[in-house]
Amino acid sequence: MSPRPAALVDRIVKRPAELSPAPHLLDYDATCSAFSWAQAAAWLDGLPGGGGLNIAHEAVDRHLLHGLGAKTAIRWLGKTGERREMSYAELARATNRFANALAGLGVRPGERVFVLMGRLPELYVAVLGALKARCVATPLFSAFGPEPIATRAEMGDARVLVTTSELYRRKVQGLRSRLPGLRHVIVVGDAGSDEPDVHRWNSLLDSATDEYTIGPTGAEDLALLHFTSGTTGRPKGAMHVHGAAVAHMATARYALDLHEDDVFWCTSDPGWITGTSYGIIAPLCSGVTNVVVEAEFDAQAWYSVLEHERISVWYTAPTAIRMMMKLGAQALRGRDLSALRFMASVGEPLNPEGVIWGLQAFGMPFHDNWWQTETGGIMIANFLALDIKPGSMGKPLPGITAAIVRRGETGGVHVIDAPMVDGELALKTPWPSMMRGYLNEDERYRKCFVGEWYLTGDLARRDAEGYYWFVGRGDDVIKSAGHLIGPFEVESALMEHPAVAEAGVIGKPDPIVGEVVKAFVALKSGYEPGESLRRELLGHARKRLGAAVAPKEIDFRANLPKTRSGKIMRRLLKARELGLPEGDLSTLESDEK
Ligand code: PRX
Repeated sequence: MSPRPAALVDRIVKRPAELSPAPHLLDYDATCSAFSWAQAAAWLDGLPGGGGLNIAHEAVDRHLLHGLGAKTAIRWLGKTGERREMSYAELARATNRFANALAGLGVRPGERVFVLMGRLPELYVAVLGALKARCVATPLFSAFGPEPIATRAEMGDARVLVTTSELYRRKVQGLRSRLPGLRHVIVVGDAGSDEPDVHRWNSLLDSATDEYTIGPTGAEDLALLHFTSGTTGRPKGAMHVHGAAVAHMATARYALDLHEDDVFWCTSDPGWITGTSYGIIAPLCSGVTNVVVEAEFDAQAWYSVLEHERISVWYTAPTAIRMMMKLGAQALRGRDLSALRFMASVGEPLNPEGVIWGLQAFGMPFHDNWWQTETGGIMIANFLALDIKPGSMGKPLPGITAAIVRRGETGGVHVIDAPMVDGELALKTPWPSMMRGYLNEDERYRKCFVGEWYLTGDLARRDAEGYYWFVGRGDDVIKSAGHLIGPFEVESALMEHPAVAEAGVIGKPDPIVGEVVKAFVALKSGYEPGESLRRELLGHARKRLGAAVAPKEIDFRANLPKTRSGKIMRRLLKARELGLPEGDLSTLESDEK
């Protein structure tokens, strides 16, 4: 790419007064000083009669009370060209039916409802209906293989699983013996199973009534369980509460600038938290029309959606932006994108080139923002009315205090005030969408906090004007196409193969998807490295883990470098793969060489 655009434009200067509609956040400093979470909570209604705060009421039912019942809540575009509009009133009735169906099955508040399916309308009904029933909803990514599904459903003690008949047959049926607590499976489509606890979605909902009163719900009641990956061990179940909707509402206004007339499209899947917080909760709480596209990425198909659905606010991710850049701006020629007014990006570093390419191709930059499964919502953002420094994640949301810190020897943290010094990104607690725990892992949860700070594990720096710049992750977790992948989960699946003695998994930098999953494998005696075994291992991992998680590359090694305590040194594998300095080797006990 010639010449580096950041060198041409190091700041995109905004003229907020020319923007229409007027941005919710016009003056950053003034909004920050006037802001309080209590004031933001008043943007929501609360349950009628002082019954508390329930996300599904805020996202669906309350709009009926404000005269928006006939407005399209979800516009669904199916893979094969089907189209379905669901008004807020229809969504209210469907979610009522689902909540009643759960009650009819004896499912109680607090029990976990897992949803495993592609972006079908039923997914949205199931998540919101489960929230009405005061169950804890857990959407799982449909491209997961059986192993990640089983691990999460086991850890999360799934009581109900909503899926499609095809996914049930292919991925879940064989796992039932591992999931004794799973009492009901609800399948969309032809059940194709005579198991008594497998119910058909249509029959279940048809026989349920469409009137439902949400029971009293506390803002601190658990609402969502989202799994995320760490360096070691099993995935972590980040727990979120109904009160998180206050942050979803605030970020919808300030970071995404959603207005009621917007047609909004978040391209993320609800199997990852962006697709839940911003593909379901934030847009519906804001009363906009939320476009859901079932198909996976295809540049021309996406441009068609932008044009024909008249998308006004678009929330997408760097991998997709880089794929579009590869095709070039000419692929957009002749498209009428006059409805589009704001574009945002999240999930991985957005290259300055990507920000500028937005300007060239769409006439507006992509606005990068930063957050994590643990933060529940956007924490740092490039705001519509604020100048952009391409390559920066932007500034903290009103109500959020961020800092760059160093962990001290004695357990405290030291805040670094000087600009452009690398350290760990920390956020001052609390805020409404902050996770309330890692499921069954108090110690792991406690380790995220020092004093009043939540430590994000990301390395960053802040410049003299208060803009934050992402430097890198502080751990071995891999970000591939925006999806967080735990190396341990991949290594464990490889180790299940009889030929594998040891496995070490790293993220190998890739110009399009950020990182690809690469595995290094040492074989047991009696096995020889070779192309056919490599293919067999790739196939094995893909079958166990699913395409989204499995390694794309495998290299054989006689041994893997290990510490004295026997831990595989992924950092060293990565340094060697990339030809980088090997760093401190004082803990190295045995090496591959
Ligand atoms: O490393 C950061 C990266 O993604 C991580 C969070 O991933 P996940 O929990 O899957 O959250 C998804 C919701 C965004 C962060 O710790 N990340 C996220 N946004 C950015 C980013 N890295 C660089 N720039 C970003 N804008």
